[in-house]
Amino acid sequence: MKAKLQETPSPKNLYERVADRIQGSIEQGTLQPGDRLPSVRTLREQMSVSISTVLEAYRLLEDRGAIEARPQSGYFVKSTFLNAPDEPNQSTPPESACAVDASLAFQVSSAIRDPKKVKLGSALPNVELMPLTALNRLMGQVLRRNPILAHAYDTPPGCFELRHEIARRLIDAGCSLAPEQLLVTNGTTEAIHLSLRAVTQPGDTVAIESPTYYGLLESLSSLHLQALELPTHPRDGISLPHLEAALKQQQVAACAIVSNFSNPLGSCMSEQKKQQLVDLCEAYQCPLIEDDIYGDLYFSGKRPKALKAFDRSGLVLYCASYSKTLSPGLRVGWAAPGRYQAKVERLKLVTNQATAVAPQLTLAAFLANGGYDRHLRKLRRAYQGQVMRMTQTIREEFPPQTRVTRPTGGHVLWVELPVGFDAMRLYHEASDRNISIAPGVLFSPSGSYNNCFRLNCGVPWSEEIAEAMKILGSAIAHQFI
Ligand SMILES: Cc1ncc(COP(=O)(O)O)c(C=O)c1O
Repeated sequence: MKAKLQETPSPKNLYERVADRIQGSIEQGTLQPGDRLPSVRTLREQMSVSISTVLEAYRLLEDRGAIEARPQSGYFVKSTFLNAPDEPNQSTPPESACAVDASLAFQVSSAIRDPKKVKLGSALPNVELMPLTALNRLMGQVLRRNPILAHAYDTPPGCFELRHEIARRLIDAGCSLAPEQLLVTNGTTEAIHLSLRAVTQPGDTVAIESPTYYGLLESLSSLHLQALELPTHPRDGISLPHLEAALKQQQVAACAIVSNFSNPLGSCMSEQKKQQLVDLCEAYQCPLIEDDIYGDLYFSGKRPKALKAFDRSGLVLYCASYSKTLSPGLRVGWAAPGRYQAKVERLKLVTNQATAVAPQLTLAAFLANGGYDRHLRKLRRAYQGQVMRMTQTIREEFPPQTRVTRPTGGHVLWVELPVGFDAMRLYHEASDRNISIAPGVLFSPSGSYNNCFRLNCGVPWSEEIAEAMKILGSAIAHQFI
């Protein structure tokens, strides 16, 4: 830890690089659990950084669960902090397309939303961390200032004020879009559903990541579409060689991808891979439906680009919302459907006319007042801390064969156990103890991944969650006796 940190260009902030350096020393064993870390003043001199940078780095390491502050004694490596468990490998789903039966997903996904259960099942965001007071105040203002407009029918593409704010924010995702290229929807769910309807016919095949978000599977099922599951790596997403082979060999009507911090794997493609994916879809004229709902929830550095940033011919139908960052209940999302804009707008109109005006204007006002970035910083940090803490607990409480993803954003973990493990059995046992988990089969139309399950880290850490993790750990261990 002696060397001065170079001021080289890096997507990470200086305090994050200081924190990474210290974490590296812990992971390599130079600093052992229980060791005292250098004082703030010493580290400042060793690394030639400011005191506030060191303090910020130590705070970040505390959030990651790597160190702890002891009153009047300084900072110490936590005795429980060790390397994370191994990651799952790239998935190997069946090679042919299949029909999607989402009845289990419907049944289990509503059961895991049961508010009485410890919420490790649904990918619930942390509403306690949302700016609810500000949003409620703004909603009141919106209703007072627009007593008639707020009750009128809106028409697609939705309120200009909101589309303007969304377009401004999408610059961070590498997209230069005019408000006219955006369409407000009822959440990402509707944006994806309308996009699928715009580019497919019943019976068509859609290429998807495997495992993938079960909400997408529910949409495919209701539209009578076939799913072609493709091998997907927990770090960098869908396999392009497999996608290319599929595009060559068969008719693929669309490809649907969660581009940044996917659900459930947490994968995030490099910019180079995103460019290659968009180029590939362009070469085969295959529409690419992008779900970027988690893009703002990166743990460090800068916001990853959207696939849409690489779209030159309007083939990417971009979908996202504020459900994971501001309010899932306001149901405000949007699509940038590229060359399919007119078709998606018509479908929106015939489906539900438009999205309610008051939530649109409320979010527009919040985004315009400049508090979103500050809020996101807090939220990202909280999610990162919760993901790290959950990972550490998995290491402590689950059997050593357990593998778990290492997402660099978002708030879900994908847990894999050796083949033979029965996650549906765990789901039922956990449910009997008032704990919800999302069993792996939910994320695959071919019913793969019964040796896996997804854990939500969106809810703040509590004694209740710690206890639930112990219960899950012993139920898993019991299956291996
Ligand atoms: C990948 C993904 N897409 C879409 C959604 C649903 O989004 P919305 O609430 O905006 O409809 C979720 C919710 O968990 C999700 O994880």
